[in-house]
Amino acid sequence: MPNPHRDFENLRLFDHPLIQQKLTCARDRTTPPTEFRRLLNEIAGLMTYEISRNFPTREVEIHTPLEPTVGYVLSKPVTLVPILRAGVGMTDGILALIPEARVAHIGIYRDERSLQPVAYYSKFPADLADWPVLLIDPMLATGGSASHAITELKNRHCRDIKLICLVCVPKGVQRMLNEHPDVTIYAAAMDRQLNERGFILPGLGDAGDRIFGTQ
Ligand code: PRP
Repeated sequence: MPNPHRDFENLRLFDHPLIQQKLTCARDRTTPPTEFRRLLNEIAGLMTYEISRNFPTREVEIHTPLEPTVGYVLSKPVTLVPILRAGVGMTDGILALIPEARVAHIGIYRDERSLQPVAYYSKFPADLADWPVLLIDPMLATGGSASHAITELKNRHCRDIKLICLVCVPKGVQRMLNEHPDVTIYAAAMDRQLNERGFILPGLGDAGDRIFGTQ
């Protein structure tokens, strides 16, 4: 598990060579949607392998074909909350590792001019707060969308929330530190800055468009 970032105690950056190689390929503008989707899911899976390292387990008794024995299973389930649309592009990679996770959705897009988050959909189970939440979005830019989603989750009494993304920038991480210091952010890279249109530089373009081929 990576150490807390030296400037942002809420950030864990994954410098694993496989994650960095796949991220580099995803950043490349010539990478087509099929490949882009595959890479995002693979990176999400590799990150989840580490994020889940401290997930609690409990003993269970089973019978192998030869004799009874004791094994271990996750004692707490987890709810995945992808932010539509782009968060969907990482969800399958996590479900491949934690198939018993459930998936709740929140739809938020960022207004192109104001850069303010606009929420348009949510589908949460009634007992949302009973399970830890892994919020999923490949990009943390101004931080408005993630912060809005977390406020919504907290309004529904969620207390154990983690955010998994691919790329972030200092501005978004700082905003999260100010507004939700209790939420740890897991990312594959912290990029340089936002441009005048709020896009991450160098970034990977518009992740939603690249996942769904809507560029
Ligand atoms: C992108 C991205 C985040 C948000 C990040 O979504 O997937 O949700 O922008 O920006 P922020 O940190 O400044 O809020 P977008 O608005 O492009 O919506 P889409 O996924 O539906 O295309």
